[in-house]
Amino acid sequence: MHRPTYAEPILSWYAQNARDLPWRRPDASPWAVLVSEIMLQQTPVSRVLPAYEAWLTRWPTPAALAAEPPGEAVRAWGRLGYPRRALNLHASARAIVERHDGQVPSAYDDLRALPGVGAYTAAAVASFAYRQRHAVLDTNVRRVLARMVTGVEYPPKTQTAAEVRLAESLLPPDAETAATWGVAVMELGALVCTARTPRCADCPVTASCAWRLAGKPAYDGPARKG
Ligand code: ADE
Repeated sequence: MHRPTYAEPILSWYAQNARDLPWRRPDASPWAVLVSEIMLQQTPVSRVLPAYEAWLTRWPTPAALAAEPPGEAVRAWGRLGYPRRALNLHASARAIVERHDGQVPSAYDDLRALPGVGAYTAAAVASFAYRQRHAVLDTNVRRVLARMVTGVEYPPKTQTAAEVRLAESLLPPDAETAATWGVAVMELGALVCTARTPRCADCPVTASCAWRLAGKPAYDGPARKG
């Protein structure tokens, strides 16, 4: 099937418009990327930023965190919410020390086996930290792909195999470019293709967006949020 070329305009847009977030910098360690992704699972960027800096200053490596009792992780988690994530991160640090010699693993299956690391987080670390070619499908990416390619306002409530196949089919062939593409689509969803009031006038792919070309039909599926 012919697809419009989304990659070039979205990558150019990202180069011009991306927020400078510390976990996206080239010097962010795989541990820093893992910590950021766990924190960002249920907490907005603005609240994650100070907690992320404090956490990595105190525990710059998995071994540093693994040496502490789990209660310290929960205490440091503070008001980020869903404190089970702190316990999972602590258990992951210990697993990384025991099973991977203190290095965050790079293989998707090893990442996925860590406590609290689901399909999204494993793909995010493999892609963003290790620059491997993995489709990263979070809420923002799913919404962008639903609109841009499928032509519907929102993705299904729970992720489907068809969405994974679609995301994989769009991945640029080169792994480094694919890693940047993943975070670029995520950023487009966070800043432009937002859930309720998308800024289509500012979108780099508005001319080839299936949802816009269809006249932005309203979502008519089952009740949902976001
Ligand atoms: N950059 C990389 N991963 C991210 C995330 N989960 N949320 C926001 N920005 C990110």
